[in-house]
Amino acid sequence: PAALPASVTAAPTLDVLQGQVADCRRCDELARTRTQTVFGVGDPNARLCFMGEAPGADEDRQGEPFVGRAGQLLDKIIQACRMQRSEVYILNTLKCRPPGNRNPKPEEAANCSGFLNRQLELIDPEFICCLGAVAAQSLLQTQTPIGRLRGGVHDYRGIKVVCTYHPAYLLRNPAAKKDAWDDMKMLMSLMGVEL
Ligand code: URA
Repeated sequence: PAALPASVTAAPTLDVLQGQVADCRRCDELARTRTQTVFGVGDPNARLCFMGEAPGADEDRQGEPFVGRAGQLLDKIIQACRMQRSEVYILNTLKCRPPGNRNPKPEEAANCSGFLNRQLELIDPEFICCLGAVAAQSLLQTQTPIGRLRGGVHDYRGIKVVCTYHPAYLLRNPAAKKDAWDDMKMLMSLMGVEL
């Protein structure tokens, strides 16, 4: 299927963009069911962004991405890469929690894409690490499965993109942690970080 048209915003700063996100009612169901929008957290000048799928129940409650169980594993992954959560930037494909944590609908991802594109443009990282299929496939506009997107270096508007498994998947499938670690080692080597 053809990609849906992306929404566009020219917000001049991340603060202005965050306000636009908080006021967004483009997805009727998400706007009605969310506690709050979840914009992103971390260093706005970070070299590396981690991009997830959408807020879960904990994130919806606290207004910050990756603060639940998957977030604790992400923190461990970041630390294993000799970095701190505060020195990267963490954001999601969708800024609202889909009810019951269902997968984002294509029209929801399209509605939110203008915010995401502008957020990444303002942060202007050198690297993006996509966590899971939803992030990877929406950023790269592809249907290729995550298992085939991993292991390579992709491009998003001049930014190097590496894809790996979502930490929630790793919690359910600990055997895949070895592959995720291979992905992080490749990313750290691209970034010039010694492990
Ligand atoms: N899973 C995600 O993809 N994002 C979050 O913020 C939390 C869990």
